[in-house]
Amino acid sequence: MNIETQLIHGGIDGDPHTGAVTVPLYLTSTYKQDGIGNHRGYEYSRTGNPTREAVEVLIAELEGGVAGFGFASGMAATTAVMMLFKAHDKILLSSNVYGGTFRVLDKVFKNFKLKYELVDTSNLELVASKITEDVKAIFIETPTNPLMHITDIDGISKLAKKHGLLTIVDNTFMTPYLQQPIMLGADIVLHSATKYLGGHSDLIAGLAVVNNKELAERLHFIQNATGGVLSPFDSWLLIRGIKTLAVRMDRHIENTGKLIDFLRQNKAITRIYYPGINNHKDNKIHNLQAAKGGAMISFVLDNAYNPDKFLQSLKLITLAESLGGIESLISHPATMTHAAIPPEIRAKLGIVDNLIRLSVGIENINDLISDIKHALSIAKEV
Ligand SMILES: Cc1ncc(COP(=O)(O)O)c(C=O)c1O
Repeated sequence: MNIETQLIHGGIDGDPHTGAVTVPLYLTSTYKQDGIGNHRGYEYSRTGNPTREAVEVLIAELEGGVAGFGFASGMAATTAVMMLFKAHDKILLSSNVYGGTFRVLDKVFKNFKLKYELVDTSNLELVASKITEDVKAIFIETPTNPLMHITDIDGISKLAKKHGLLTIVDNTFMTPYLQQPIMLGADIVLHSATKYLGGHSDLIAGLAVVNNKELAERLHFIQNATGGVLSPFDSWLLIRGIKTLAVRMDRHIENTGKLIDFLRQNKAITRIYYPGINNHKDNKIHNLQAAKGGAMISFVLDNAYNPDKFLQSLKLITLAESLGGIESLISHPATMTHAAIPPEIRAKLGIVDNLIRLSVGIENINDLISDIKHALSIAKEV
């Protein structure tokens, strides 16, 4: 089955009992048991719920894994995966990883003596040099955000396997429609399903997929023991969102291409970050492991333009955190997603004050371009 069809008919397709073409919403906390130790597959909804199970089976199939798990947020999914490790274990982490992932390791798991080290995972030799006895996993995100650094998933997975480590990939930005890390050798895939999978900025959800039964049993135990599960209603919304992922993504990407053409010709923009137009080495690796470049772009405004005025003057594109919804969202990494990083480190990383991140929506591209043109005309200071 092709992925476009799998998104609609994969996993548990409809309801075998009634013929309903959509998975029913099972709003129940518990289930009648027919006798001692005799239940019908469900006992309590933290442990298992048919609507959540439908999205869990679907994401496992889409990512080519053995089992999927639904969590109340992307961070709850990441947290559950971190709980696979124990005190004094160490995780190597992409240096540009999502800030919340860094924060949970730095401020929460550190208290439990789980160690981490930030590494430029685009440099395989550097990663290899960091593997010591205590390292148990390599956690990567590719492309990263907002600077779109690329990590070779196949290369990292091979290196990890050689040393008996797990490879964990946050696949939020690409989704299984564009990139399937388990097929490239990864052990665990994570999603903030809040983003493209949900697709409508109306839910918070996280998903994890594992590539073997042993990890599946351990992660299910953690999911049930710690309880950060995805609610039946959000599971149902998420299934609904996933069904249109392919058409949304195609339109997101088409708009992104047209917007990049516009930005490239505009003197107000001095640099654009997007997989596919980054440096040659990154392009080559990204094109090998992902179908397309996605729909997240970052760009730097020329100093003659005031970034705050630009953002305030947009009428259609919304200044907001988050990404991956049908509506275009824009953000200012230096004061929003990366505000916690000291300015000098930010500057070193390339997160300058006039860097803008845009999650390109599926509106009519001419309206998006007009909005940006108008805002640029107001933001010009000299
Ligand atoms: C790449 C990435 N991973 C994980 C998360 C966390 O997901 P959530 O906000 O659903 O907890 C985010 C949120 O922005 C993200 O961008």
